[in-house]
Amino acid sequence: MCGIVGYIGYRDAYPVIINGLKRLEYRGYDSAGIALVDNLKPVIYKVKGKVSDLETFVGDGNRNGYMGMGHTRWATHGEPNDNNAHPHVSMNGKFVIVHNGIIENYSFLKKKLASRGYSFKTDTDTEVLANLIEYIYLFAKVSAADAVSLALRKVVGAYGIVVFCVDEPEQLIAARKSSPLVVGIGQNEYFIASDASPFVDYTNQVVYLDDENLAVIGKGAVQIKTIKNDIVNAEVRKIDFDAEEIEKGGFDHFMLKEIFEQPKSLRDTFRGRIDEHHSSLQLGGIMPVMPKLINARRLIIVGCGTSWHAGLLGEYLFEEYARVPVEVEYASEFRYRNPIINSEDVVIAISQSGETADTLAAIQLAKKCGACVIAICNVVGSSISRVADAGVYTHAGPEIGVASTKAFTAQVSVLTMMALFIGRAKFNISAEKYTELITELNSVPEKIEELLKTASAVKHVAEKYKDSSNFLYLGRGCYYPVALEGALKLKEISYIHAEGYPAAEMKHGPIALIDEKMPVIFIACQDKSYEKIVSNIQEVKARKGVVIAIVSEGDKTVSAMADHVLEVPKFNTAVGALTAVVPLQLLSYYIAVMRGCNVDQPRNLAKSVTVE
Ligand code: M6R
Repeated sequence: MCGIVGYIGYRDAYPVIINGLKRLEYRGYDSAGIALVDNLKPVIYKVKGKVSDLETFVGDGNRNGYMGMGHTRWATHGEPNDNNAHPHVSMNGKFVIVHNGIIENYSFLKKKLASRGYSFKTDTDTEVLANLIEYIYLFAKVSAADAVSLALRKVVGAYGIVVFCVDEPEQLIAARKSSPLVVGIGQNEYFIASDASPFVDYTNQVVYLDDENLAVIGKGAVQIKTIKNDIVNAEVRKIDFDAEEIEKGGFDHFMLKEIFEQPKSLRDTFRGRIDEHHSSLQLGGIMPVMPKLINARRLIIVGCGTSWHAGLLGEYLFEEYARVPVEVEYASEFRYRNPIINSEDVVIAISQSGETADTLAAIQLAKKCGACVIAICNVVGSSISRVADAGVYTHAGPEIGVASTKAFTAQVSVLTMMALFIGRAKFNISAEKYTELITELNSVPEKIEELLKTASAVKHVAEKYKDSSNFLYLGRGCYYPVALEGALKLKEISYIHAEGYPAAEMKHGPIALIDEKMPVIFIACQDKSYEKIVSNIQEVKARKGVVIAIVSEGDKTVSAMADHVLEVPKFNTAVGALTAVVPLQLLSYYIAVMRGCNVDQPRNLAKSVTVE
């Protein structure tokens, strides 16, 4: 939610910041702004719309300066317009700030500042923070960095900020709590951003700021301390992706690129984990907590959106192979109940970004109750991966499209490996079966490679049903979460109403919706509920519903009944979910493109939801 880029060094800051913001637009794209420091003074441009609108707005204006900051916004407080766009300037013009997060006590702070003579030009919580910093700076006569620290100690909520003070014009001050910030360290230049993508062209040396850390970034040095003024000896790490991975690579959209990348991303997920004979798995990340996992009374899986769907598949996998009771919870619900958890429980938190506020809060609650927390994250160094007791990275590579695709298949693959690993450690799976299952899992990238060659068949179906107003997605067993995921993909990028249901639940209500205008997508692969789903298809056909079926290759029965069939490879286990989801990803993609929707940046959404 909101992307931030800051730069200080010897290059022209404008292109560094603008190009960086473009890479962060997945985090929000309601408005964009930039502040450049030219001749020690800030020059600010901000406008409603995307970074490209900002570029047009700047036009031939002054773009000079070797330092500055930029922002791309996902509105929380105040509608998206020019005025509410960042950067914001404090009332007396001393401070310029960009902010990602929510200042929860902003209204209280605003009243206090108003009673001391402050007035406000915008509806944002960020302007309140700018004025609070300025008030402390002027009143307490402290340095700019100390004013920021003192102000942040009064703040309740989440922030990732970059601040510039006109009286100390050769430094940027950055700080974070619950909103990510990464400092990039180059040769005599420094970057600060919400993730490392804006500066991978310039450096691969980074420092991940921790919660309540504050960085004072000058021309020749970075000093990191806590907002309580304790010095932090931050570790400089090397990032593991390059600029090519965050380009579209010849595809029209990131989403399509990421769908087609799945064979590669899954191979990366398996690399070093599946041995060449498929007889063992290495999951170094969970080794320290294996005794906890083996003896767990219960597993609780938490996540949001697509990650929650992966968690539902995890339930099937862990119950089947690890033989342990599993509960799957929306992180946002879990955190506000009074859940009964103790040290015998293991919580598995799933998050592509590793920054989702609800998932982070669920982890904090679980840890407080004494549970061991394992994270499954894609973004290395993300907040969730750092706060967990142990974890497994999915290694799917950067996912830029707002609709999650390759992250989902990577998450399910990690869950499968974990379930098998624990199952084997508990002697629930024989050595022979173990090899058979690992071999099956390892074959998925190749199978998806083949499957993607049939994308044109999906496009044909998309063409026929692109104008439908509603879709129903039905599946049973491990294909029920796939149905949910297919429906989510369609609604988020094409704005068509779609619902996912367990197929057998249809007759308890949704069947009333079925008529000749309602496309019903059945995930009808051959597994133990196949016969049952065949009956469900007949029930829909009897009511003149249009059936689009995802079937195992060679299927005859469903093919004879359905209006359209899309074949996927045949698997006997839940591994089939990994391939069955692919045509659903493609279907939503093609429909969205045909409807003229912005696939990579769907309305109202942001990739990383760092607010409640
Ligand atoms: O980064 P996370 O996996 O924690 O994100 C969770 C959801 O916000 C995310 O999966 C969202 O539902 C996607 N837009 C789905 O495509």
